[in-house]
Amino acid sequence: MDQIIVQGNGPLSGEIPIAGAKNACLTLMPATLLTDQPLTLTNTPRLSDIRTMTALLQSLGAEVASLQDGQVLALSSHDLTSQHADYDIVRKMRASILVLGPLLARYGHAEVSLPGGCAIGARPVDLHLKAFEAMGAELDLRDGYVHAKAPMGGLRGAVIDFPLVSVGATENALMAAVLAKGTTVLNNAAREPEIVDLAVCLRAMGAQIEGEGTGTITIQGVDSLHGTTHPVVTDRIELGTYMLAPAICGGEVECLGGRIDLLAAFCEKLDEAGINVEQTARGLKVSRKNGRVRAVNVKTEPFPGFPTDLQAQMMALMCTANGVSELEETIFENRFMHAPELTRMGARIEVHGGHARVTGVEKLRGAPVMATDLRASVSLILAGMAAEGETVVSRVYHLDRGYERVVRKLSGVGAKITRLREVGHDE
Ligand code: UD1
Repeated sequence: MDQIIVQGNGPLSGEIPIAGAKNACLTLMPATLLTDQPLTLTNTPRLSDIRTMTALLQSLGAEVASLQDGQVLALSSHDLTSQHADYDIVRKMRASILVLGPLLARYGHAEVSLPGGCAIGARPVDLHLKAFEAMGAELDLRDGYVHAKAPMGGLRGAVIDFPLVSVGATENALMAAVLAKGTTVLNNAAREPEIVDLAVCLRAMGAQIEGEGTGTITIQGVDSLHGTTHPVVTDRIELGTYMLAPAICGGEVECLGGRIDLLAAFCEKLDEAGINVEQTARGLKVSRKNGRVRAVNVKTEPFPGFPTDLQAQMMALMCTANGVSELEETIFENRFMHAPELTRMGARIEVHGGHARVTGVEKLRGAPVMATDLRASVSLILAGMAAEGETVVSRVYHLDRGYERVVRKLSGVGAKITRLREVGHDE
């Protein structure tokens, strides 16, 4: 298995291009299932999760062509041959459940395996299913699959009150509602930029949607959608991750394509910690000139709060901060698996349930560590960049799910990072 080797070193400088958002792309790709006309996505990231979604769509009979070195995806669901999303693909990635809404809306029936995904908690899909039921679908959970059937005449618009904010359930319900009969109202909807991106794309395909980016989204169902070309929004999690590189190592890095509005709560925390963030014409310039960062407290929340997907990386920064920081995880119950690995590098972290208390140390020390999930894996790389000596990160396949060309991007700003390949890899 591949490993990533990091040597701690001094200030960074240069630019890092930020890719299109993995999580936006994973919900935009299934939108192809809603129409028989072509959907072209530009600014697509080159990641194994995108290849998994490609394989899933192809297994349904969709055509997916990867163009321009993987930065454009041309999709067509003109001749779909199946509405069965098989366990063998779905188990690799939880976002696979996002094919259910579009299939149900366009074909009136679908069978989708219950998903797997990152081991960061129970992560049920009950909210997705309740939304489809509210729209008149009959659901049967058998043999590890959801067997779903729309009523005669297709899904019906409904008022759906989500008891908690779910990104995936909002996306799935939104995609189902665009072809439903009548009006659907999604209350307590997720407000993430990826939801806004999906709504913008669906509207360009002919959907009638209002209120995306707020807690209430209203959809007027239409009979059919058409094709479009849509650029994927910037990946705010990749952006935040690379903003932390100069914060941890010192120096100045410009993250190309970055926007403060994608990460306002995160930028506020960086400011509190003593990191400079400046919006430029090309992106976000981040610098830490001298001294240790200040410890800050962080609580993860749905957008516009501090993203759970940046909690592990922020913890890496706090490991060498001056003082004690409290991190509270409110989205996923089991998302501190990076803490014991960071402790192996000399960090002082106590975890109690959804709370972690980090007492900053002057210096971390390099160590062999193991990636446990996607965001945890990159937090270990960031920590390694600030540590004395060498850090060897194993199980980097987690990283490949969500970060394209990490070694190239970080070594481009002066980090000492290499990948030991077991088999050929396209980094
Ligand atoms: C998406 C992101 C993921 C991010 C998460 C929260 C994608 C592909 N993934 O995941 O990177 O960490 O948002 O920002 O976009 N829940 C239920 N029942 C459901 C659905 C969710 O109880 O049917 C719970 C979850 O267990 C979790 C919370 O709701 O505690 C939020 O999950 P959700 O927003 O749905 O996350 P995902 O869409 O899976």
